[in-house]
Amino acid sequence: MPRLLRIKPMSMLTKEAGEQGEHTLKRSLGALNLITLGIGAIIGAGIFVLTGQAAAKHAGPAVALSFVLAGITCAFAGLCYAEFASIIPIAGSAYTYGYATLGEFVAWIIGWDLGLEYGFGAAGVAAGWAGYFNSLLQQLHIYFPPRLTATPGTVLVFFHERWLPLASLPPGTDSAGLPHVTALFNLLAILAILVVTTVLVIGIKESANLNTVIVFVKLGVVGIFLVLGTYFLIRHPEVARMNWHPFIPPSDGHGNFGWHGIAAGAASIFFAYIGFDAVSTAAQEAKNPQKDMPLGILGSLVICTILYIVVSTVLTGLVNYRSLNVADPVAMGIDATGVSWGSLLVKIGAVFGLGTVMLVMLLGQSRVFFSMSRDGLLPKWASAIHPKFRTPWISTIAVGTVVAILPAFLPVDRLAELVNIGTLLAFTIVCAGVWVLRVRHPNMARPFKTPFVPLVPILGIITALYLMINLPLITWVVMISWLLFGLVIYFGYSIRHSKVQALPVATEGD
Ligand code: ALA
Repeated sequence: MPRLLRIKPMSMLTKEAGEQGEHTLKRSLGALNLITLGIGAIIGAGIFVLTGQAAAKHAGPAVALSFVLAGITCAFAGLCYAEFASIIPIAGSAYTYGYATLGEFVAWIIGWDLGLEYGFGAAGVAAGWAGYFNSLLQQLHIYFPPRLTATPGTVLVFFHERWLPLASLPPGTDSAGLPHVTALFNLLAILAILVVTTVLVIGIKESANLNTVIVFVKLGVVGIFLVLGTYFLIRHPEVARMNWHPFIPPSDGHGNFGWHGIAAGAASIFFAYIGFDAVSTAAQEAKNPQKDMPLGILGSLVICTILYIVVSTVLTGLVNYRSLNVADPVAMGIDATGVSWGSLLVKIGAVFGLGTVMLVMLLGQSRVFFSMSRDGLLPKWASAIHPKFRTPWISTIAVGTVVAILPAFLPVDRLAELVNIGTLLAFTIVCAGVWVLRVRHPNMARPFKTPFVPLVPILGIITALYLMINLPLITWVVMISWLLFGLVIYFGYSIRHSKVQALPVATEGD
């Protein structure tokens, strides 16, 4: 057992950070930059796509309450995450922090689990991106072969000059006479991942400035939606009254709508909050990481929570929730205001905005596998660096290829559910980890302290588990299979090749 608990010494972490030249990065990012970075990684397919689907299928207008519930869960986890991140003063992920504090086995589980989060996350965003991109093309009267724009078996009908999933037609539409086709797979989503993978292999200069521009484009689009939507609802209060009534539709007896539906909606739109941990990857570029990292993590979370609650409320006021099960619900919402240029703007903003989220996620994925390989926990090829581009090209291509296949066959909501269960599990481990560390190492330097320990970690664990039990059984099956597969690799390969296991035991204490 003690072998599984071996921690990675701080000296080793700092040395590696130095080897990668990270210590030479300029410390130029302040709290505001970090908050912007977080918002850039957070706002994506969750708010642009899943809000509508969760309202239509699970919660009705009360999807706003689903955002409150998921936001509270993230706040507890974010508070724990901030302490965890502030203890280790170098850039990294929960995997790195876990290795330095909780031991190799827990770090392995977190790292493997992050694979599920980032890989499936990028796939989910790609599926959402494809929906907006296709909708944008169709608005410009460019028709990509419809059979290659959706998951297998989806029936698409030609309605109002667009190919739309039959299931997304407004209730009561007579579709019998409409041309229709059955989709084979989603080629657009594959192409999106392949483009992003190529960009990552060639190498991008991660530019805080470009990120800031795209974040403002995203926020601008959301802002325009809110201004136009609110103005319309103030002028037409009868529309809002009709659409918001009943605010919590009665339960359908199958776990949807009613209180249960709010929880199911929260478990689904939890995806919208994922990404705030991206802030911690910029630790070494932060001017004052110990103060600003928690501000970055929690600040971006608070801003997104408020935005999400307001956007979902306005959206369900503009369009009846039953009609929101479409690929581009926010564009549909703006259409309802009658402003003709609005939806074009939303779609362009979503295409760029979701593009950067895919980039951040695949980058995160390759970084985690790169770190695990460098630690000897995954084979060497996973950290092989391209001689010219200086990027971990083999792992990037391997991950990109697998990730590209997923959205071709699975829709965004299914992928999001898989990501959610993986991330919620990581949250419970991080919350438990903060508590365990307080007991085991009470005197460790903690520049940021999670308040009210153990209450906050316990509430973090309870709320995360609550959302997990509201996810479909199949997501549990996939997550457990993924973890078992990970354990086979850990005990079959990693534990025997781990560099930390090879260190003399005395090194651990430093
Ligand atoms: N939070 C990110 C999104 O909604 C993953 O796309």
